[in-house]
Formats: sequence, C-alpha cells, structure tokens
Amino acid sequence: MTKKKIKALCVPLAHAEPVRRYLKERKLLREDVTVLKEGTCIFFPINRTPEDLPNYTIITKSFEVRTIKPHCYKDLLTLPKNLREELPTSYDVVGSIVLIKLPQSLFRYRKKIGNALLETHKNVRTVCLIDPVSGELRTRNITIVAGENQTLTTHTEYGLTFHVDIATTYFSARLASERKRVATQVKPGEIIVDLFAGVAPFSIMIARYAQPKIIFAIDKNTEAITLAKYNVKQNHVLQTIEVIHADAKDAEKIIPTKADRIIMNLPFSAYKFFSVALSIAAPICKVHYYDIIREEDIEGRITALKKIAKTKGYTLTEVQVHKIKSYAPREFYIGLDITATKHADVA
Ligand SMILES: C[S@@+](CC[C@H](N)C(=O)[O-])C[C@H]1O[C@@H](n2cnc3c(N)ncnc32)[C@H](O)[C@@H]1O
Repeated sequence: MTKKKIKALCVPLAHAEPVRRYLKERKLLREDVTVLKEGTCIFFPINRTPEDLPNYTIITKSFEVRTIKPHCYKDLLTLPKNLREELPTSYDVVGSIVLIKLPQSLFRYRKKIGNALLETHKNVRTVCLIDPVSGELRTRNITIVAGENQTLTTHTEYGLTFHVDIATTYFSARLASERKRVATQVKPGEIIVDLFAGVAPFSIMIARYAQPKIIFAIDKNTEAITLAKYNVKQNHVLQTIEVIHADAKDAEKIIPTKADRIIMNLPFSAYKFFSVALSIAAPICKVHYYDIIREEDIEGRITALKKIAKTKGYTLTEVQVHKIKSYAPREFYIGLDITATKHADVA
C-alpha cells in the first residue's frame, strides 16, 4: 500500500458531509488518496486551503494512495490513431471470460488488447477472440489471447448460475433480459418444451421465476446436455426440468404430453422444426420463436410459418415481433411471440 503526505482539513464527524460536499463542489478535495477517519474526526485531503472554512484546522497527514482502475481498456493502449478508432467498443463477458471480435487490422495487437481487457475487468481471467457461431450445434472457434487457458466458466444472471464451456456449447449473455421476459409470461402449471435448450438458461430461468408444472429441455449437443444437467442441479430445479439428449426432430416420439409453451431458440433453422413443434403443441400454445433475419424478410418468414401452421391444423392467432439485438449490418436477432390455436374442426 502506497502512502502520501498531504495537507488535510480536520473536520468533526458531525460536520463531515456538508464540508465534503463544499470541498468537492469547489474542486478542493483530492481524489487520488482515500479520506481518513480517526476517532471523532475526518481528515479530508485538499489541494489548497479553503478560504471560507477558517474554523477547521489544517495539518499534514499520511494518506493511502487510491489505485485508480482505468475506465476503459482503450485507455491502456497506445496505438496509431487510425487503428485506435477500430478498437471494438463492445464485447461479451461470459463468467470470467471476455469474448471479443477484432478486425484483421488489429490482429497483431491481440495480446496487448487482451492484457488491457484483463487489467480493466477485475473478475475476468481469460480473453479470447471469437468467430461467429456456426454449424448445427451453434458453437464457435475461439482463440485465447490473454490470461488463463480455460474455456469453462460460470456465468451469473438474475441470481442464477450457468456453467458454460464457450468452446463446445452455445451461450449468449445478451439474451438474459429476453429469458426473464419469457419467464414472466409463464402461468402456473404450464407444460413447457425448450426444444433447443443448450446449457438450459431459458428452462432454468422459467423454473426459478415462474411455476410451470414441468419443462422438457432438449438438446442434441452432448456437452451442452452434461452442463444443462449440472446447471439444473446447481440451481435447485431438478423437480421441474427434465433434460433430454435428443434431436428435436424426434420430439413427437419423446415428449409424453402436449405443451402449453414451446421455446425455439435456433436462429436460421428454427422454421424447419416449426411443424414438429406444432405436433407436440396443446390446442392453444405459445411459441417463442427466435431467428436472425433482415428486417424486410420478417413478414415473409411469418407468412411461411402461418402456412406450416395451416398444414398442422393451427392458425397463428397472434404474432408479436421483438427485435432483441442487431447481429450484422441490417440483420437482427428477433423473437416472435406466437399464439398457435388449433382449428375447431381438427381433432
Ligand atoms: C442458439 S443455441 C440456443 C441454446 C439455448 N436455448 C440458449 O438460449 O442458450 C441452439 C441449440 O440448439 C441445439 N441444436 C441444434 N440442432 C438441434 C436439433 N436438431 N435438436 C436438438 N438440439 C439442437 C444446439 O446444440 C444448441 O445448443
């Protein structure tokens, strides 16, 4: 701990707050050291003598120097101006891991950038570069550029903890408020199917923040299923969630009952499973359908879903579009809140 001798104003505790405010407003209070309390006195470190406070003694005291954390990782980097402008302003933090995308021009500075991020976030232990999620299991190539060689981490949101392996499973911290929003819509006693559950963040959020009867959480990825089972246990929702390692296309064979609510978070491909989803739907079923799509294609996608619904004897009586985040120029991660209602003449 570093100490510094500095001029200080000695103020009785009873006067401390108004004097602190007075000093701060006039920029007399030093912020590079911490205020000192001794007995019934507070010692305010000052950079010059206040003219209007003659009743307080001024003495020299030894103060602890504050360690000032840089506000932003960019402050720690010296780069040519044109490259500085290309530094990303946003990135994801999953548990103790920063996931960042860098343009090719900054690739040679990746280690420096990684170390700057480590220094700015006290809970971060690893920084990695990421490619976009790809493939059927929606995983991504990652390259660790700074910190510990780990890809398994524990992410916390709304008091829940999710074990995630960022190299082998999908997880998006940016969907936290969407998960919470969906959970608030669930009515007591609902039967829910999470068709593409991953490490089970939607299922667990619902199980903890609503009172469903049961949630079937399906995923095809073995690693995701192992973590989903662990997460269900860790979040004390073993009674509510049944984790199933399977292909969603077999849902009709696997799910023993009809669902009041179905979650379909498989952007780009969810529409291929819409017919399967309706085959396990109750006569009135809410579907939370997610996609990554250009704005001008949304209506077309809804029309296609309506056609599929018709072949299954359903009408989409309500479709609400939510833009959740932008994904690429002109492309959005969207959620559709769908109400599917079975035609009266269909058994
Ligand atoms: C975009 S992730 C969503 C995961 C999770 N719902 C979440 O929000 O974090 C899609 C998930 O679907 C799974 N998946 C892809 N195809 C599948 C299929 N045919 N059957 C079951 N799961 C599948 C992937 O393994 C991945 O975990």
